[in-house]
Amino acid sequence: MVKAMQKVIKNNWVIGNWKSNPSSLAQAKDLAKEITAINFDATNGQIMVMPTNLHLSSIVDEMKDSKVLVGCQDVSFTSATTGAYTGDCSAEQMQAIGAKWTLVGHSERRTYHQESDKQLIAKIENALKNDIGVVLCIGETLTEYEKNQTLNVLQKQLAILKEINELENNIDKLIVAYEPVWAIGTGKVPQVAEVENVHKNINEYLLTINTGLTKTPILYGGSVNADNVETFAKSDSIDGVLVGGASLVADKFATLAKTFFATKK
Ligand code: PGA
Repeated sequence: MVKAMQKVIKNNWVIGNWKSNPSSLAQAKDLAKEITAINFDATNGQIMVMPTNLHLSSIVDEMKDSKVLVGCQDVSFTSATTGAYTGDCSAEQMQAIGAKWTLVGHSERRTYHQESDKQLIAKIENALKNDIGVVLCIGETLTEYEKNQTLNVLQKQLAILKEINELENNIDKLIVAYEPVWAIGTGKVPQVAEVENVHKNINEYLLTINTGLTKTPILYGGSVNADNVETFAKSDSIDGVLVGGASLVADKFATLAKTFFATKK
């Protein structure tokens, strides 16, 4: 008899990437306080916020008695620990401050800092060595999208995972966030069917790297807001959302998160 395929249960995530916002620590703390008060069902998923490095320690403190996790937006590729690397913050320092996850490869860092695959590999290794989970961001530009190159571009960006020695022992410390560059901060979003096709492809490609990655949550990011989040949450292939602009207004972020988790129930 043919055994029925078991549905893989993945964690659901709503992640707020605060980028270089807000301008003061007082504002960041206010935002954190309001987000801490969001009443969401933790059995159903996880909320995480990612403040700037400057605000990280205070926000960890602000959120310490809440269900909200705090992560960072980047870690240094030069050293996993300490050393003479002016301006860098290492994964060991992030871990000591209380960051649980880090973004790696966000399109803004790929663009403004010309981050190379070699650097991204080192960042992932450094994070995992320090027990920090990695939200690997991938996405195609508008030109690539228009030329129908999306799947190829994404596979190339994901291929760096083959080089990660630490991956085998840290399978549950990886999240992939698919963020079309043309959808970030623009108000434009792809059709859900397009995202579903991409996520299916990402999932299949991850399995060729390591079969353990079957449980890797695959998030969508790019102009997600409280009004459109339900359409993404309805899809079984979208395990979460990475939110920029809409994560900076506490009540909008609260509505977004509650809608996401309620739809996933
Ligand atoms: P956005 O940003 O929600 O403002 O489009 C998303 C991101 O950059 O992660």
